Amino acid sequence: MQPDFEQRLISAIQPIRHFFLAQCLEFAMTSGLLSRLSEASPAGGDSVDSLAQDLNLHPERLTGLLRYLEGEGIVTDSEGAPAITAKGREFLEFRPWYELLIGGYGATLRELPEVMADRKRFASRNGTMVGLGSCGMSRFDAVPLVKQLIALLPEPPSALVDLGCGDGTFLLDLCEGGSPGIGVDPTPGSIDIARRAAAERGMSDKVRFVNATAEDYMAQVTPETTGAPCFVTAFSLQEVLEQQGRDATVEVVRSALAHAPGAHLAIVEVDHRPLDPAVTRHGLGNAYYNPYYFLHQITEQRLETQPFWEELIKEAGGEVVDCLTTAPEVDSTGLELGFLVRGQ
Ligand SMILES: C[S@@+](CC[C@H](N)C(=O)[O-])C[C@H]1O[C@@H](n2cnc3c(N)ncnc32)[C@H](O)[C@@H]1O
Repeated sequence: MQPDFEQRLISAIQPIRHFFLAQCLEFAMTSGLLSRLSEASPAGGDSVDSLAQDLNLHPERLTGLLRYLEGEGIVTDSEGAPAITAKGREFLEFRPWYELLIGGYGATLRELPEVMADRKRFASRNGTMVGLGSCGMSRFDAVPLVKQLIALLPEPPSALVDLGCGDGTFLLDLCEGGSPGIGVDPTPGSIDIARRAAAERGMSDKVRFVNATAEDYMAQVTPETTGAPCFVTAFSLQEVLEQQGRDATVEVVRSALAHAPGAHLAIVEVDHRPLDPAVTRHGLGNAYYNPYYFLHQITEQRLETQPFWEELIKEAGGEVVDCLTTAPEVDSTGLELGFLVRGQ
């Protein structure tokens, strides 16, 4: 046996270790375990039995998970009064990334054998978790970006219409203390969560949610007679593009801009530059955008480049008022593009 066998083995199986860790962390987050541990007083937390009872988990299984998490430095005292470590708190802060990539797309890669040979087949995903994770992430990047775009409007919008609204929190954040809103999404689980979130925030009278695709909603909605609304599509034109094609996507943009005089559309999309060295040599490019690009290749959505979107907007009769990207302290890749568009 080569003397360095064990060292090389340890290096070679790190992806497998992280594959396990990512899934256990996502469960520890979505089951409420990590937040429950993070809320415990420094004087001492609950016993495993009381945690198991409150979270509806079997105590023996929970002990096994806690021991595993202790081995990864995420909790301490797994068999006594488990507590979260500083490293565990760090993970918890980035929960939406786990909801999107593990909760939403965790099972997607298991379908590679079926979808790799056939361009017409698409791998599945958990749409509700995609909406939840995406909107959670958007609070850090796309929501501030769209707020900046809305601030450029000549006057406050009469309403905000979010096409592909996910769990609704993106729209609720935009409408807080301002315009009324309509959220539209084809995933029934997302619309249920959105309606509950609106009720919890006391915004049900002001913001309503419709279960439909962007293209179906825009095809049946009657044009406004008063006021100029602002439509929002954040990471959802990419869905219409693969599902319905380019012409249907142009039509969604055209109908939003023609909805009323002065109507605007804020579009957020990710620039498709998978082999650009500025992406492949960037930390967030490696950690996030590289898997993100591949997931979009095998599921029913299509990423495109900035010139593609600019051309499509022009074809739909739109004029780009401004194109912004995310704050560099959150995402310095410049890949997330926010267009504010008005009719010509
Ligand atoms: C990545 S999530 C984006 C959620 C939210 N807009 C955000 O910025 O975080 C994409 C959303 O588009 C929705 N979607 C899928 N197909 C759609 C379609 N044809 N029209 C509108 N939305 C669609 C999905 O259900 C999902 O909630």
